[in-house]
Amino acid sequence: MPTNKNILVTGGAGFIGSNLIEALLQNNNTVTCLDNFSTGYRKNIDRFFDNPHFSLIEGDIRDLDTCRQAVEGKDLVYHEAALGSVPRSIENPVLSTHVNILGFVNMLTAAKDAKIPRFIYASSSSTYGDATYSPKVEDKKGFPLSPYAVTKHVNDMFARNFTALFGIETIGLCYFNVFGPYQDPNGAYAAVIPKFINLLLEHKQPTIYGDGKQSRDFTFVKNVVNANLLAGDAQLIENKHEHINVACNESIDLTSLTNEIIQSLAKYDPAIASIQPAYADARKGDIRDSMASIEKAKRILGYSPKIFVKEGVEKTTEWFFQQFSEKAK
Ligand SMILES: NC(=O)c1ccc[n+]([C@@H]2O[C@H](COP(=O)([O-])OP(=O)(O)OC[C@H]3O[C@@H](n4cnc5c(N)ncnc54)[C@H](O)[C@@H]3O)[C@@H](O)[C@H]2O)c1
Repeated sequence: MPTNKNILVTGGAGFIGSNLIEALLQNNNTVTCLDNFSTGYRKNIDRFFDNPHFSLIEGDIRDLDTCRQAVEGKDLVYHEAALGSVPRSIENPVLSTHVNILGFVNMLTAAKDAKIPRFIYASSSSTYGDATYSPKVEDKKGFPLSPYAVTKHVNDMFARNFTALFGIETIGLCYFNVFGPYQDPNGAYAAVIPKFINLLLEHKQPTIYGDGKQSRDFTFVKNVVNANLLAGDAQLIENKHEHINVACNESIDLTSLTNEIIQSLAKYDPAIASIQPAYADARKGDIRDSMASIEKAKRILGYSPKIFVKEGVEKTTEWFFQQFSEKAK
């Protein structure tokens, strides 16, 4: 894993980016965060400002000059900045396209012009689209079901293209439903786990869209951070562009997941045990079932998941409960 390197993390004030920065700083790297705080928060990175090896550039990846400034002198780039959320991209495809495609190409161009040897970026399980087989393997994609999925699919094509044309090494880490501390629980586009935890802590009923039998390979963020660290200096023997699933190869349906969350929170607040989820119509653009093969991650990165969904939910509810209690003081 990278040590004593000069590293740029875009989207570092977000959920995954801030967890990644924490691990990179622990490994004695110097880290610059580039973020425009559109969906990320200063509170996610407050704890790094005391570290002289951390710095922030507040800026937008849609601006090529900002990207060029951010990559200057760096050994490695982790590109996490994007607008997440399938529903957000359906409501505003233009904005998601600007940030996720133009911003991506800006970052990739800045990195290759600055002769950064390796560019690691956040890809997404949404790129499997309408493929129905399971578990998903990297070279068998379906047709994307949302503008968000299209943007992530286009990222993969640009990365492969830039590797072929310019020789920059690119690794797309294809995340499957990541969850954990520092994930945003608020707003219309919040992910299911932090959103449900926050609702339950307020004794409100969470709503599952669909019949609750849709399943996901929920991946605790520490596994994702670990995959990123491994990708930082893995030997790319087979290809200079790789697209690699990062998940647990374990899926759980949404009703069971919600029950896990309820039981886990009930340890802190017994009244939560009696809350049952409501059900509403399924949302457009959502994949029905999603589970990853992680054979490629094992082979190329030496990755294996360390924390599975049950333990991850326990760690996550504990963190959110602490945040909730501190706010209530
Ligand atoms: N969370 C998941 O389950 C998941 C799954 C698959 C892929 N991903 C991808 O992983 C990456 C990180 O996701 P996350 O869950 O941490 O999301 P997040 O919203 O918490 O983090 C994204 C960060 O990017 C920043 N950002 C957005 N637009 C920007 C811009 N124009 N310029 C500069 N910064 C900008 C935001 O302010 C935020 O801090 C994203 O690329 C996302 O698409 C996430």
